[in-house]
Amino acid sequence: MVKFPGANHLNVAVFISGAGTNLKSLIKFSLKTKKKIIIKLIISNNKKAKGLKYSKIFKIKKKIYNFDDKTNEENILNFLEYNQIDIICLAGFMKILSTKFIKKFKGKIINIHPSLLPKYKGLNTHQRVLDNNDNFSGCTVHYVNSKLDSGKIILQKKVKVLKRDTAKTLAKRILKQEHILYPMALKKICINL
Ligand code: GAR
Repeated sequence: MVKFPGANHLNVAVFISGAGTNLKSLIKFSLKTKKKIIIKLIISNNKKAKGLKYSKIFKIKKKIYNFDDKTNEENILNFLEYNQIDIICLAGFMKILSTKFIKKFKGKIINIHPSLLPKYKGLNTHQRVLDNNDNFSGCTVHYVNSKLDSGKIILQKKVKVLKRDTAKTLAKRILKQEHILYPMALKKICINL
């Protein structure tokens, strides 16, 4: 549970690298929370990320940073502080944050991962599930700590693997569930608002 003494709303920054469909589902959810949860910033490492279009559509401030340059981290942290960001949602964000960065937002960064963690941390989750002939896969929302995809699990959703599945079809079915799971997980950790 994230504790925000005295807070009557939460400012969220969503970090993306690609299509941003999870970002879209978080924005849609936030718009139904009577301004209790506000998606205030969209941050990306990739200026070509398709999800950046939601900045214009929903009038949300966006910023692009080169996360490979660690000297930038101070700028990012300052920008988050300036915008009074309470929580960071990683949504298809394909960079690893430094331990220093994670410490600064301890317990306030969450991530969505397309597998049933602790199985299949890292990349190419769907192909690895198929290669191992697993009957189920799914998605997980978890807190971010300094070990990749290893923080405390908030919520998971199981998805059945079908005989005819390819990595692409499985990814698509899981992504649909991610769009439901991520808002539920955000709501769960902000229950005290
Ligand atoms: C999602 O499936 C998300 O779980 C995954 O990338 C996709 C992003 O889609 N994230 C990771 O693999 C992180 N390790 P989106 O940009 O449409 O939200």
